[in-house]
Amino acid sequence: MDTHRESYSMDEIIAFAKEKGFVFQSSDIYGGLAGAYDFGPQGVELLNKLKKSWWQEVVYRKKNYYGLDSAMFKHPKVWEASGHVSGFSDPMAECRECNTRIRVDKELEKVGVSADEKISEAEINELFAAHRDKIHCPKCKGNDFTEAKAFNLLVRSNLGDFTSQNSNPVYLPGEACQGIYLNYKNVLDSVHPKIPFGIAQIGKAFRNEISPRNFLFRTREFEQADIQYFVKPGENTEAFEKIKEERMAWYKKIGLREENLRFKQHENLVFYASDAWDIEYNFPSYGFDEVEGIHDRTDYDLTQHQKFSGVDLSYNDNGEKYIPYIIETSMGLGRVFLALLSSAYERETFEGGDERRVLRLKPSLAPITAAIFPLTKKDGLPEIADDIFAELSSHFHVSYSESGSVGKRYRKADEVGTPFCITVDYDTKDDKKVTVRHRDSMQQERVAIDELVDYITRHLKD
Ligand code: GAP
Repeated sequence: MDTHRESYSMDEIIAFAKEKGFVFQSSDIYGGLAGAYDFGPQGVELLNKLKKSWWQEVVYRKKNYYGLDSAMFKHPKVWEASGHVSGFSDPMAECRECNTRIRVDKELEKVGVSADEKISEAEINELFAAHRDKIHCPKCKGNDFTEAKAFNLLVRSNLGDFTSQNSNPVYLPGEACQGIYLNYKNVLDSVHPKIPFGIAQIGKAFRNEISPRNFLFRTREFEQADIQYFVKPGENTEAFEKIKEERMAWYKKIGLREENLRFKQHENLVFYASDAWDIEYNFPSYGFDEVEGIHDRTDYDLTQHQKFSGVDLSYNDNGEKYIPYIIETSMGLGRVFLALLSSAYERETFEGGDERRVLRLKPSLAPITAAIFPLTKKDGLPEIADDIFAELSSHFHVSYSESGSVGKRYRKADEVGTPFCITVDYDTKDDKKVTVRHRDSMQQERVAIDELVDYITRHLKD
Protein backbone atom coordinates (compact mmCIF):
# COMPACT_ATOMS: atom_id res chain seq x y z
CA MET A 1 0.00 0.00 0.00
CA ASP A 2 1.30 3.44 -0.93
CA THR A 3 0.64 6.40 1.35
CA HIS A 4 1.26 9.95 0.11
CA ARG A 5 1.44 11.60 3.54
CA GLU A 6 4.04 14.21 2.70
CA SER A 7 2.40 15.45 -0.45
CA TYR A 8 -0.90 16.82 0.81
CA SER A 9 -1.27 20.53 0.40
CA MET A 10 -3.39 22.66 2.68
CA ASP A 11 -5.59 23.41 -0.36
CA GLU A 12 -6.41 19.71 -0.62
CA ILE A 13 -7.28 19.56 3.06
CA ILE A 14 -9.45 22.69 2.87
CA ALA A 15 -11.37 21.28 -0.13
CA PHE A 16 -11.79 17.97 1.71
CA ALA A 17 -13.05 19.78 4.84
CA LYS A 18 -15.82 21.41 2.81
CA GLU A 19 -16.69 18.35 0.70
CA LYS A 20 -17.11 16.13 3.75
CA GLY A 21 -19.04 18.57 5.94
CA PHE A 22 -16.31 19.64 8.36
CA VAL A 23 -15.95 23.38 7.67
CA PHE A 24 -17.82 25.87 5.50
CA GLN A 25 -17.09 29.51 4.79
CA SER A 26 -19.48 31.70 6.76
CA SER A 27 -22.38 33.07 4.65
CA ASP A 28 -21.34 30.90 1.73
CA ILE A 29 -24.46 31.57 -0.37
CA TYR A 30 -23.74 35.33 -0.22
CA GLY A 31 -20.22 34.89 -1.46
CA GLY A 32 -18.72 34.35 2.00
CA LEU A 33 -17.61 36.61 4.84
CA ALA A 34 -13.85 36.89 5.30
CA GLY A 35 -12.38 35.59 8.53
CA ALA A 36 -15.41 33.59 9.73
CA TYR A 37 -16.15 29.88 9.34
CA ASP A 38 -18.97 27.50 10.21
CA PHE A 39 -18.48 23.95 11.42
CA GLY A 40 -20.62 21.40 9.56
CA PRO A 41 -22.13 18.09 10.74
CA GLN A 42 -18.75 16.33 10.99
CA GLY A 43 -16.85 19.44 12.09
CA VAL A 44 -19.04 20.24 15.06
CA GLU A 45 -18.56 16.68 16.34
CA LEU A 46 -14.78 16.86 16.06
CA LEU A 47 -14.76 20.32 17.64
CA ASN A 48 -16.96 19.21 20.55
CA LYS A 49 -14.83 16.13 21.16
CA LEU A 50 -11.69 18.23 21.07
CA LYS A 51 -13.20 20.55 23.68
CA LYS A 52 -14.30 17.57 25.77
CA SER A 53 -10.81 16.07 25.68
CA TRP A 54 -9.27 19.37 26.80
CA TRP A 55 -11.88 19.91 29.54
CA GLN A 56 -11.39 16.38 30.80
CA GLU A 57 -7.64 16.95 30.99
CA VAL A 58 -7.60 20.38 32.62
CA VAL A 59 -10.72 20.32 34.80
CA TYR A 60 -11.69 16.73 35.61
CA ARG A 61 -8.22 15.21 35.92
CA LYS A 62 -7.02 17.95 38.29
CA LYS A 63 -8.04 18.42 41.90
CA ASN A 64 -7.43 22.17 41.94
CA TYR A 65 -8.90 23.35 38.62
CA TYR A 66 -12.39 24.82 38.19
CA GLY A 67 -14.49 25.47 35.11
CA LEU A 68 -16.16 28.71 34.06
CA ASP A 69 -18.34 30.08 31.30
CA SER A 70 -18.49 33.88 31.39
CA ALA A 71 -20.67 36.26 29.37
CA MET A 72 -19.16 37.61 26.19
CA PHE A 73 -20.26 41.16 26.84
CA LYS A 74 -18.35 42.84 29.59
CA HIS A 75 -18.23 46.28 31.17
CA PRO A 76 -16.40 48.70 28.83
CA LYS A 77 -13.83 49.45 31.56
CA VAL A 78 -12.62 45.82 31.39
CA TRP A 79 -10.94 46.48 28.06
CA GLU A 80 -9.41 49.73 29.32
CA ALA A 81 -8.00 47.96 32.37
CA SER A 82 -6.65 45.10 30.26
CA GLY A 83 -4.84 47.52 27.96
CA HIS A 84 -6.79 46.47 24.86
CA VAL A 85 -8.38 49.86 24.18
CA SER A 86 -5.03 51.62 24.07
CA GLY A 87 -2.66 48.87 23.06
CA PHE A 88 -4.32 45.92 21.30
CA SER A 89 -3.21 46.52 17.78
CA ASP A 90 -1.40 45.19 14.76
CA PRO A 91 1.53 47.26 13.46
CA MET A 92 0.64 48.21 9.89
CA ALA A 93 2.70 50.06 7.28
CA GLU A 94 1.78 51.09 3.76
CA CYS A 95 3.85 50.72 0.61
CA ARG A 96 4.36 54.24 -0.79
CA GLU A 97 4.48 52.89 -4.36
CA CYS A 98 1.24 50.87 -4.55
CA ASN A 99 -0.51 51.49 -1.18
CA THR A 100 -0.48 47.82 -0.22
CA ARG A 101 -0.65 47.36 3.55
CA ILE A 102 1.70 45.01 5.32
CA ARG A 103 1.78 43.69 8.88
CA VAL A 104 5.22 44.73 9.97
CA ASP A 105 5.66 42.08 12.69
CA LYS A 106 4.86 39.32 10.19
CA GLU A 107 7.21 40.74 7.54
CA LEU A 108 9.98 41.02 10.14
CA GLU A 109 9.39 37.39 11.09
CA LYS A 110 9.88 36.35 7.45
CA VAL A 111 13.38 37.86 7.52
CA GLY A 112 14.24 36.14 10.79
CA VAL A 113 13.44 38.96 13.25
CA SER A 114 11.05 37.92 15.97
CA ALA A 115 8.74 40.74 17.07
CA ASP A 116 6.02 39.96 19.59
CA GLU A 117 2.77 41.39 18.21
CA LYS A 118 2.19 43.23 21.47
CA ILE A 119 5.38 45.34 21.57
CA SER A 120 5.04 49.15 21.35
CA GLU A 121 4.82 51.18 18.16
CA ALA A 122 8.20 52.79 18.89
CA GLU A 123 9.88 49.41 19.45
CA ILE A 124 8.50 47.89 16.28
CA ASN A 125 9.53 50.95 14.27
CA GLU A 126 13.08 50.58 15.59
CA LEU A 127 13.19 46.97 14.38
CA PHE A 128 11.48 47.94 11.11
CA ALA A 129 14.08 50.67 10.45
CA ALA A 130 16.96 48.33 11.20
CA HIS A 131 15.74 45.63 8.79
CA ARG A 132 13.78 47.61 6.19
CA ASP A 133 16.23 46.91 3.38
CA LYS A 134 15.29 43.20 3.59
CA ILE A 135 11.51 43.73 3.48
CA HIS A 136 9.70 44.04 0.16
CA CYS A 137 6.14 44.85 -0.76
CA PRO A 138 4.34 41.59 -1.62
CA LYS A 139 2.62 43.33 -4.57
CA CYS A 140 5.10 45.70 -6.29
CA LYS A 141 8.32 44.39 -4.63
CA GLY A 142 9.37 47.93 -3.68
CA ASN A 143 10.64 48.75 -0.20
CA ASP A 144 9.58 52.31 0.42
CA PHE A 145 7.16 52.08 3.33
CA THR A 146 5.47 54.48 5.74
CA GLU A 147 6.27 54.07 9.44
CA ALA A 148 4.37 51.30 11.22
CA LYS A 149 1.14 52.48 12.84
CA ALA A 150 -0.90 50.60 15.40
CA PHE A 151 -4.32 49.47 14.16
CA ASN A 152 -6.69 48.53 17.01
CA LEU A 153 -8.16 45.03 16.74
CA LEU A 154 -11.11 45.27 19.15
CA VAL A 155 -14.55 44.79 17.59
CA ARG A 156 -17.09 47.34 18.87
CA SER A 157 -20.75 46.58 19.42
CA ASN A 158 -23.65 48.95 20.08
CA LEU A 159 -25.05 46.86 22.92
CA GLY A 160 -27.17 49.06 25.19
CA ASP A 161 -26.22 52.19 23.23
CA PHE A 162 -29.25 54.05 21.90
CA THR A 163 -27.39 57.15 20.76
CA SER A 164 -25.65 57.67 17.44
CA GLN A 165 -22.26 58.43 19.06
CA ASN A 166 -21.49 55.06 20.67
CA SER A 167 -18.77 56.84 22.64
CA ASN A 168 -18.45 54.20 25.37
CA PRO A 169 -18.83 50.99 23.38
CA VAL A 170 -19.25 47.52 24.80
CA TYR A 171 -16.65 45.48 22.92
CA LEU A 172 -16.75 41.91 21.80
CA PRO A 173 -14.03 40.02 23.68
CA GLY A 174 -10.58 40.47 22.16
CA GLU A 175 -9.43 37.51 24.26
CA ALA A 176 -11.52 35.03 26.22
CA CYS A 177 -9.37 35.06 29.38
CA GLN A 178 -10.64 38.39 30.72
CA GLY A 179 -13.81 36.61 31.91
CA ILE A 180 -11.61 34.50 34.19
CA TYR A 181 -9.94 37.53 35.83
CA LEU A 182 -13.36 39.11 36.39
CA ASN A 183 -14.60 35.96 38.12
CA TYR A 184 -11.46 35.15 40.11
CA LYS A 185 -12.96 36.76 43.23
CA ASN A 186 -16.35 35.08 42.69
CA VAL A 187 -14.64 31.70 42.47
CA LEU A 188 -12.58 32.47 45.60
CA ASP A 189 -15.66 33.53 47.56
CA SER A 190 -17.89 30.66 46.41
CA VAL A 191 -15.64 27.60 46.03
CA HIS A 192 -12.82 28.72 48.39
CA PRO A 193 -9.89 27.20 46.48
CA LYS A 194 -6.43 27.44 47.98
CA ILE A 195 -3.57 28.82 45.93
CA PRO A 196 -2.25 27.41 43.64
CA PHE A 197 -5.40 26.76 41.60
CA GLY A 198 -6.55 27.07 38.02
CA ILE A 199 -9.68 28.32 36.29
CA ALA A 200 -10.44 26.94 32.83
CA GLN A 201 -12.77 28.33 30.21
CA ILE A 202 -13.60 27.91 26.55
CA GLY A 203 -14.79 31.16 25.03
CA LYS A 204 -15.08 33.11 21.83
CA ALA A 205 -12.75 35.92 20.84
CA PHE A 206 -13.16 38.50 18.09
CA ARG A 207 -10.37 40.46 16.44
CA ASN A 208 -10.54 42.89 13.59
CA GLU A 209 -7.65 41.17 11.82
CA ILE A 210 -6.49 43.22 8.82
CA SER A 211 -5.79 40.18 6.75
CA PRO A 212 -7.56 37.04 7.95
CA ARG A 213 -5.82 34.21 6.16
CA ASN A 214 -4.85 30.58 6.03
CA PHE A 215 -8.35 29.16 6.52
CA LEU A 216 -9.01 28.52 10.24
CA PHE A 217 -5.55 29.74 11.18
CA ARG A 218 -6.19 33.49 11.33
CA THR A 219 -9.85 34.38 11.57
CA ARG A 220 -11.81 37.32 12.95
CA GLU A 221 -14.00 35.13 15.12
CA PHE A 222 -12.46 32.15 16.91
CA GLU A 223 -12.57 30.12 20.10
CA GLN A 224 -9.91 29.96 22.78
CA ALA A 225 -9.51 27.31 25.46
CA ASP A 226 -7.77 29.05 28.35
CA ILE A 227 -6.33 28.15 31.70
CA GLN A 228 -5.38 30.83 34.14
CA TYR A 229 -3.35 29.31 36.97
CA PHE A 230 -3.07 31.46 40.11
CA VAL A 231 0.17 31.06 42.06
CA LYS A 232 2.09 32.71 44.86
CA PRO A 233 4.70 35.16 43.50
CA GLY A 234 8.04 33.34 43.56
CA GLU A 235 6.41 30.01 42.76
CA ASN A 236 5.55 31.06 39.21
CA THR A 237 8.69 29.79 37.44
CA GLU A 238 8.34 26.23 38.67
CA ALA A 239 4.60 26.19 37.88
CA PHE A 240 5.31 27.59 34.42
CA GLU A 241 7.72 24.77 33.55
CA LYS A 242 5.32 22.10 34.77
CA ILE A 243 2.34 23.52 32.88
CA LYS A 244 4.40 23.88 29.70
CA GLU A 245 5.30 20.19 29.79
CA GLU A 246 1.72 19.14 30.60
CA ARG A 247 0.35 21.10 27.68
CA MET A 248 2.84 19.60 25.22
CA ALA A 249 2.01 16.10 26.50
CA TRP A 250 -1.69 16.71 25.80
CA TYR A 251 -1.02 17.53 22.15
CA LYS A 252 0.72 14.20 21.75
CA LYS A 253 -2.12 12.48 23.56
CA ILE A 254 -4.72 13.77 21.09
CA GLY A 255 -2.70 12.20 18.31
CA LEU A 256 -0.40 14.90 16.91
CA ARG A 257 3.01 13.54 16.07
CA GLU A 258 5.99 14.62 18.14
CA GLU A 259 8.06 15.62 15.12
CA ASN A 260 5.35 18.12 14.11
CA LEU A 261 5.29 19.86 17.49
CA ARG A 262 7.76 22.25 19.04
CA PHE A 263 8.14 25.02 21.61
CA LYS A 264 9.18 28.52 20.64
CA GLN A 265 10.16 31.12 23.20
CA HIS A 266 9.18 34.77 22.62
CA GLU A 267 12.21 37.03 22.27
CA ASN A 268 10.54 40.43 22.61
CA LEU A 269 8.16 40.15 25.54
CA VAL A 270 5.15 42.32 26.15
CA PHE A 271 6.15 44.63 29.06
CA TYR A 272 4.22 42.88 31.86
CA ALA A 273 5.11 39.27 30.95
CA SER A 274 8.11 37.57 32.52
CA ASP A 275 8.18 34.61 30.12
CA ALA A 276 6.22 33.50 27.06
CA TRP A 277 6.36 30.38 24.90
CA ASP A 278 4.29 29.15 22.01
CA ILE A 279 3.48 25.56 21.14
CA GLU A 280 3.79 25.35 17.39
CA TYR A 281 2.47 22.77 14.93
CA ASN A 282 3.97 22.01 11.54
CA PHE A 283 1.01 22.66 9.22
CA PRO A 284 1.09 21.41 5.62
CA SER A 285 1.97 24.30 3.27
CA TYR A 286 2.19 26.85 6.16
CA GLY A 287 4.99 25.24 8.18
CA PHE A 288 5.45 25.62 11.94
CA ASP A 289 3.15 28.16 13.57
CA GLU A 290 1.50 28.86 16.91
CA VAL A 291 -1.42 26.83 18.22
CA GLU A 292 -1.13 27.80 21.89
CA GLY A 293 0.48 30.57 23.90
CA ILE A 294 1.85 29.95 27.40
CA HIS A 295 2.51 33.17 29.28
CA ASP A 296 3.70 34.18 32.72
CA ARG A 297 1.50 37.28 33.08
CA THR A 298 2.85 38.14 36.56
CA ASP A 299 0.33 40.11 38.69
CA TYR A 300 -0.52 42.46 35.83
CA ASP A 301 -4.13 41.46 35.11
CA LEU A 302 -5.42 41.35 38.67
CA THR A 303 -3.51 44.52 39.58
CA GLN A 304 -5.08 46.35 36.64
CA HIS A 305 -8.60 45.15 37.45
CA GLN A 306 -8.10 46.03 41.11
CA LYS A 307 -7.03 49.53 40.08
CA PHE A 308 -9.87 50.11 37.60
CA SER A 309 -12.66 48.48 39.64
CA GLY A 310 -11.58 49.64 43.08
CA VAL A 311 -12.20 46.11 44.42
CA ASP A 312 -9.51 44.41 46.51
CA LEU A 313 -8.33 41.38 44.50
CA SER A 314 -5.58 40.26 46.83
CA TYR A 315 -5.43 36.73 48.20
CA ASN A 316 -5.20 36.11 51.91
CA ASP A 317 -2.69 33.32 52.41
CA ASN A 318 -2.95 32.59 56.15
CA GLY A 319 -2.60 36.28 56.96
CA GLU A 320 -0.13 37.09 54.18
CA LYS A 321 -1.83 39.18 51.49
CA TYR A 322 -0.67 39.33 47.90
CA ILE A 323 -1.90 39.60 44.32
CA PRO A 324 -1.33 36.17 42.76
CA TYR A 325 0.78 35.71 39.66
CA ILE A 326 -0.97 34.13 36.70
CA ILE A 327 0.33 31.47 34.36
CA GLU A 328 -1.84 31.46 31.27
CA THR A 329 -2.27 28.85 28.58
CA SER A 330 -4.39 29.92 25.64
CA MET A 331 -5.15 27.50 22.83
CA GLY A 332 -6.84 28.40 19.57
CA LEU A 333 -9.41 25.66 18.98
CA GLY A 334 -9.69 26.34 15.24
CA ARG A 335 -5.92 25.97 14.86
CA VAL A 336 -5.80 22.69 16.76
CA PHE A 337 -8.82 21.45 14.78
CA LEU A 338 -6.88 22.24 11.60
CA ALA A 339 -3.77 20.51 12.95
CA LEU A 340 -5.81 17.39 13.72
CA LEU A 341 -7.45 17.35 10.32
CA SER A 342 -4.11 17.85 8.54
CA SER A 343 -2.33 15.19 10.54
CA ALA A 344 -5.14 12.61 10.23
CA TYR A 345 -5.79 12.98 6.50
CA GLU A 346 -4.34 10.29 4.24
CA ARG A 347 -4.83 9.14 0.68
CA GLU A 348 -3.97 5.49 0.12
CA THR A 349 -3.55 3.50 -3.05
CA PHE A 350 -3.87 -0.28 -2.92
CA GLU A 351 -2.38 -2.87 -5.22
CA GLY A 352 -4.55 -2.86 -8.34
CA GLY A 353 -5.06 0.91 -8.16
CA ASP A 354 -8.02 1.09 -5.77
CA GLU A 355 -7.87 4.23 -3.59
CA ARG A 356 -9.29 5.42 -0.32
CA ARG A 357 -9.14 8.63 1.67
CA VAL A 358 -9.00 7.99 5.37
CA LEU A 359 -9.02 10.23 8.39
CA ARG A 360 -6.89 8.53 11.01
CA LEU A 361 -8.24 10.47 13.96
CA LYS A 362 -7.85 9.05 17.40
CA PRO A 363 -11.08 6.98 17.84
CA SER A 364 -12.29 9.06 20.79
CA LEU A 365 -12.13 12.21 18.63
CA ALA A 366 -13.78 10.79 15.52
CA PRO A 367 -17.02 12.62 14.60
CA ILE A 368 -18.90 9.31 14.30
CA THR A 369 -17.81 6.46 16.54
CA ALA A 370 -19.49 3.61 14.68
CA ALA A 371 -21.40 3.13 11.43
CA ILE A 372 -24.07 0.45 11.34
CA PHE A 373 -24.81 -1.36 8.08
CA PRO A 374 -27.35 -4.07 7.35
CA LEU A 375 -25.84 -6.15 4.54
CA THR A 376 -29.11 -5.92 2.56
CA LYS A 377 -32.35 -3.99 2.84
CA LYS A 378 -34.42 -7.13 3.32
CA ASP A 379 -34.86 -10.42 5.20
CA GLY A 380 -35.05 -8.79 8.62
CA LEU A 381 -31.48 -7.43 8.58
CA PRO A 382 -32.49 -3.70 8.80
CA GLU A 383 -34.64 -4.50 11.85
CA ILE A 384 -31.66 -6.04 13.67
CA ALA A 385 -29.48 -3.08 12.62
CA ASP A 386 -32.17 -0.67 13.90
CA ASP A 387 -32.09 -2.32 17.31
CA ILE A 388 -28.29 -2.05 17.39
CA PHE A 389 -28.57 1.63 16.40
CA ALA A 390 -31.04 2.26 19.22
CA GLU A 391 -28.76 0.62 21.79
CA LEU A 392 -25.44 2.14 20.65
CA SER A 393 -26.82 5.63 20.09
CA SER A 394 -27.47 6.06 23.78
CA HIS A 395 -23.71 5.62 24.37
CA PHE A 396 -22.00 6.97 21.24
CA HIS A 397 -22.59 9.06 18.15
CA VAL A 398 -23.38 6.40 15.53
CA SER A 399 -24.63 6.49 11.95
CA TYR A 400 -26.82 4.14 9.95
CA SER A 401 -26.68 3.38 6.24
CA GLU A 402 -28.28 0.72 4.08
CA SER A 403 -27.58 2.04 0.59
CA GLY A 404 -24.74 1.02 -1.74
CA SER A 405 -22.34 -1.88 -1.45
CA VAL A 406 -20.74 -2.51 1.93
CA GLY A 407 -17.35 -1.68 0.35
CA LYS A 408 -18.60 1.78 -0.66
CA ARG A 409 -20.12 2.30 2.76
CA TYR A 410 -16.74 1.45 4.33
CA ARG A 411 -15.01 4.04 2.14
CA LYS A 412 -17.46 6.79 3.12
CA ALA A 413 -17.02 5.96 6.79
CA ASP A 414 -13.20 5.97 6.41
CA GLU A 415 -13.30 9.46 4.90
CA VAL A 416 -14.87 10.98 7.99
CA GLY A 417 -12.69 8.93 10.31
CA THR A 418 -15.29 6.47 11.68
CA PRO A 419 -13.18 3.90 13.57
CA PHE A 420 -15.70 1.03 13.58
CA CYS A 421 -18.10 -0.25 10.93
CA ILE A 422 -20.63 -2.80 12.14
CA THR A 423 -22.22 -5.05 9.55
CA VAL A 424 -25.32 -7.13 10.18
CA ASP A 425 -25.34 -10.16 7.85
CA TYR A 426 -27.25 -13.40 7.46
CA ASP A 427 -25.14 -15.19 10.08
CA THR A 428 -26.19 -12.54 12.62
CA LYS A 429 -29.66 -14.05 12.67
CA ASP A 430 -28.22 -17.31 14.03
CA ASP A 431 -25.15 -16.40 16.03
CA LYS A 432 -26.28 -12.92 17.28
CA LYS A 433 -22.89 -11.58 16.24
CA VAL A 434 -21.89 -8.79 13.84
CA THR A 435 -18.78 -8.07 11.83
CA VAL A 436 -16.76 -5.18 13.24
CA ARG A 437 -14.35 -3.73 10.71
CA HIS A 438 -11.54 -1.44 11.88
CA ARG A 439 -10.82 1.77 9.97
CA ASP A 440 -7.00 1.73 10.14
CA SER A 441 -6.11 -1.94 9.78
CA MET A 442 -9.28 -2.82 7.81
CA GLN A 443 -9.25 -6.05 9.85
CA GLN A 444 -12.59 -7.62 10.66
CA GLU A 445 -13.76 -9.63 13.64
CA ARG A 446 -17.02 -11.10 14.89
CA VAL A 447 -18.40 -9.54 18.07
CA ALA A 448 -21.55 -10.51 19.96
CA ILE A 449 -24.26 -7.84 19.73
CA ASP A 450 -24.68 -7.67 23.49
CA GLU A 451 -20.93 -7.05 23.91
CA LEU A 452 -20.72 -4.15 21.43
CA VAL A 453 -21.01 -1.32 23.96
CA ASP A 454 -18.20 -2.72 26.12
CA TYR A 455 -16.12 -3.58 23.08
CA ILE A 456 -16.30 -0.04 21.67
CA THR A 457 -15.83 1.58 25.07
CA ARG A 458 -12.63 -0.42 25.57
CA HIS A 459 -11.28 0.72 22.20
CA LEU A 460 -12.05 4.39 22.93
CA LYS A 461 -10.03 4.50 26.17
CA ASP A 462 -7.01 6.85 26.19
N1 GAP B 1 -5.14 35.58 26.30
C1 GAP B 1 -3.96 35.42 25.54
C2 GAP B 1 -4.15 35.47 24.11
O1 GAP B 1 -5.24 35.74 23.63
P1 GAP B 1 -2.91 35.10 21.86
O2 GAP B 1 -1.53 34.58 21.62
O3 GAP B 1 -3.30 36.37 21.21
O4 GAP B 1 -3.03 35.19 23.44
C3 GAP B 1 -3.94 32.69 22.02
O5 GAP B 1 -3.97 33.98 21.45
C4 GAP B 1 -4.25 31.66 20.95
O6 GAP B 1 -5.45 32.02 20.25
C5 GAP B 1 -3.18 31.57 19.87
O7 GAP B 1 -2.16 30.67 20.23
C6 GAP B 1 -3.97 31.05 18.68
O8 GAP B 1 -4.05 29.64 18.73
C7 GAP B 1 -5.35 31.63 18.90
N2 GAP B 1 -5.55 32.81 18.02
C8 GAP B 1 -5.09 34.05 18.21
N3 GAP B 1 -5.47 34.86 17.19
C9 GAP B 1 -6.20 34.10 16.35
C10 GAP B 1 -6.88 34.34 15.12
N4 GAP B 1 -6.94 35.57 14.58
N5 GAP B 1 -7.52 33.32 14.51
C11 GAP B 1 -7.51 32.07 15.07
N6 GAP B 1 -6.88 31.78 16.22
C12 GAP B 1 -6.24 32.78 16.87
